[in-house]
Amino acid sequence: LFGGIPTAPPDSILGLTEAFQADKNPDKMNLSVGVYKDASGQTPILDCVKAAEQRLVDTEATKGYLPIDGGPDYRGHVRKLVFAETIAAERVTVVQTPGGTGALRESAAFIADQLSGRRVWVPSPTWANHNSVFASERLLVENYRYLGSDKKSFDIDGMLDDLSSKTNVGDAVLLHACCHNPTGVDPTPSQWAQIADVVAERGLLPLIDFAYQGFGHGLDEDAESIRAISAKCDELMVCSSFSKNFGLYSERVGALCVVSSDSATASAIQSQIKKLVRTNYSNPPRHGAAVVATILDDEKLTAQWHDELAMMRNRIKTLREQFVETMKTTGAGHDFSFLLDQNGMFSFSGLNPMQVDELLHKHSIYIVGSGRINVAGMSESRMGHLCEAIAKVVEG
Ligand code: LMR
Repeated sequence: LFGGIPTAPPDSILGLTEAFQADKNPDKMNLSVGVYKDASGQTPILDCVKAAEQRLVDTEATKGYLPIDGGPDYRGHVRKLVFAETIAAERVTVVQTPGGTGALRESAAFIADQLSGRRVWVPSPTWANHNSVFASERLLVENYRYLGSDKKSFDIDGMLDDLSSKTNVGDAVLLHACCHNPTGVDPTPSQWAQIADVVAERGLLPLIDFAYQGFGHGLDEDAESIRAISAKCDELMVCSSFSKNFGLYSERVGALCVVSSDSATASAIQSQIKKLVRTNYSNPPRHGAAVVATILDDEKLTAQWHDELAMMRNRIKTLREQFVETMKTTGAGHDFSFLLDQNGMFSFSGLNPMQVDELLHKHSIYIVGSGRINVAGMSESRMGHLCEAIAKVVEG
């Protein structure tokens, strides 16, 4: 029965970590997957998370199943984090999901199950897994222009042109709320207003990936894109991840929020998504979401989280600057200062696939094939080594 099953190719992001783990070179460096690492190269557990976990150990009374759509406290906190008080609570359906990918998958399942639109427009480039997640629910994935041909600037005209000339009413359009993955190139507030106008005029469904809230400019600042869209569109979906901003990667904490025009529709949508969840993973995991809810229930822990998140955000900015400065000292003659305008964990370096390959095979430095480098994985002490290796591949 199983004899003819072919081997699937490794995942374009997580597959690199598997290869990294098998690499025996003591100087190896993993700058592929988007995880934050501290100066010692560890992905730390935030202090606020440790404190919340201690509280849970002391007080948690059961490991019984959560409701299909997740814990009510958690869901309330997610709504406030994403929308503040800009949208009436009864218009918002919130479903706890296993990570942001779980939210994306449920959003795709909901579109396939309940809506007439079968197409999702994603930016070119986008997170590699978007295509696979949507295709898994038999949605047709199309690309809209996003990154300019210089591989540095945002092609707002191309994006608006594609969205206004190629889409049909009811198509979904995937937008990265902040810290665009993989480019780090985000629209400005006035560009978000232009995008919102086109999305509303064309009757598109905004499907917003919000995996990096707090890693761009701040928790509220990063949600401004969502405010711009919701000011023009009564119906939208937001997929949140708390992997990065709470450092809860392996706990799989995320949420799907659906905004509808009235509370009756919101309840109907909640029931439909619950039905989908029940046949997919039945109900979500408890621990990570309980940690998030414990932190957000407590003013002191919330303040501590804000500080720890700001520290990660600011350190990544400093690493970005240090990278650009160190590259200058290598004499490679390649100016990387455009990286300073990019936001979030990633830097879209402009390195081509051959250079990426050379970095891996000659220097054991792992970055994603698109040239995306995880700045959040760099370290101050190994910056010189990294930049020397990049200079060598750039010089050819
Ligand atoms: C990434 O883009 O590296 C992260 O979102 C992790 C992942 O699952 O790919």
